[in-house]
Amino acid sequence: MTTTTTYKAWELKSFSLQDVAATAREESRLEPHQVRIAVKAVSLNFRDLLVARGHYNPKLPLPVVPLSDGAGEVVAVGDLVSKFKKGDRVMPNFMPDWIAGEVSPDAAKTALGGFVDGMLREQATFNESALVHIPPHLSYEEAATLPCAALTAWSALMVNGALKPGETVLTMGSGGVSIFALQLAKAAGARVIATSGANEKLKRLKELGADTLINYKEHPNWDELVLEATGGSGVDHVVEVGGAGTLERSMKAARMNGHVSVIGVLDGISGSLNAIALIMKSLRLQGVFVGSRSRFEDMNKAISLHGIKPVVGKVFAADEITEALSYMASGQHFGKIVLKL
Ligand SMILES: NC(=O)c1ccc[n+]([C@@H]2O[C@H](COP(=O)([O-])OP(=O)(O)OC[C@H]3O[C@@H](n4cnc5c(N)ncnc54)[C@H](OP(=O)(O)O)[C@@H]3O)[C@@H](O)[C@H]2O)c1
Repeated sequence: MTTTTTYKAWELKSFSLQDVAATAREESRLEPHQVRIAVKAVSLNFRDLLVARGHYNPKLPLPVVPLSDGAGEVVAVGDLVSKFKKGDRVMPNFMPDWIAGEVSPDAAKTALGGFVDGMLREQATFNESALVHIPPHLSYEEAATLPCAALTAWSALMVNGALKPGETVLTMGSGGVSIFALQLAKAAGARVIATSGANEKLKRLKELGADTLINYKEHPNWDELVLEATGGSGVDHVVEVGGAGTLERSMKAARMNGHVSVIGVLDGISGSLNAIALIMKSLRLQGVFVGSRSRFEDMNKAISLHGIKPVVGKVFAADEITEALSYMASGQHFGKIVLKL
């Protein structure tokens, strides 16, 4: 008689923050190149809020296991697995099929917690090519914050931006991507101008190394303050997470020939674009979609070398997923929101 082992997974049943429920799933057979992990911690990204509300893609087939980011311990490996062994601490790449080079349409479809089941489950199985080792100085809770937010900041600044020591970076707000951008930029010897809508959060950004602070709510014309802080020239790199509502000011805050990483939609998805400003400043506007496994490995080397610790603002239990999503929606958080399994 064969026995089937089940594990607990949480499924988004309909597009509502309230409709995520635990369910039992059957363990699949392990293929030769596969690695099974016991998920120990997961983290939230703003994307998870968009997915849960049906704003990411209203045609997304449901139910789906939400959340792209997680970290866990290897509990079983297939016969042909060579890179990992039982007991290893690992994280899957945001897009398991994006190994190196440029992103492809097929790899983009494998993004976890979208069309493919995500990490809010006790157990997950991946091809070994999707996994990376956790930097030794990080806990599971800290590691679970890296796959999307940190790698996006890395792609923006280190890969596309080829950031150099002495350059100036503008970060916006105190969410996951922005705080990782601040930490990575400081480790690389850059100057950081950080904004936030709350003075209390600005204090904490200063403690993390931000050189110049701007409250974008008190100063709606924050781009002018950025220009003032850079002697009128503007910053080398903008980590643009606001989208339609902030892009024009971000372009004004960038220097001539500057680099604007278009990453987020916190303040709107579509709007008008001032083509003349873009042309006359010879700006480089570059969309960013997280990163490859090889970039993830490169980033982890830098995180280990510099002892960078992700900022975990609040930890919930996995069963509190609705509360965690609502907390993110409230905008009270600083850094990352983590759930423990
Ligand atoms: N393209 C990609 O690959 C990629 C990857 C990751 C994330 N994203 C996107 O990037 C954005 C940020 O994601 P996240 O997960 O880091 O979000 P998050 O952790 O939820 O960050 C939200 C924070 O951003 C700040 N904020 C909100 N509106 C703002 C505005 N108008 N101007 C400046 N700051 C503002 C607020 O910080 P304060 O309270 O300090 O003001 C807020 O707490 C989202 O749109 C997400 O979808 C894209």
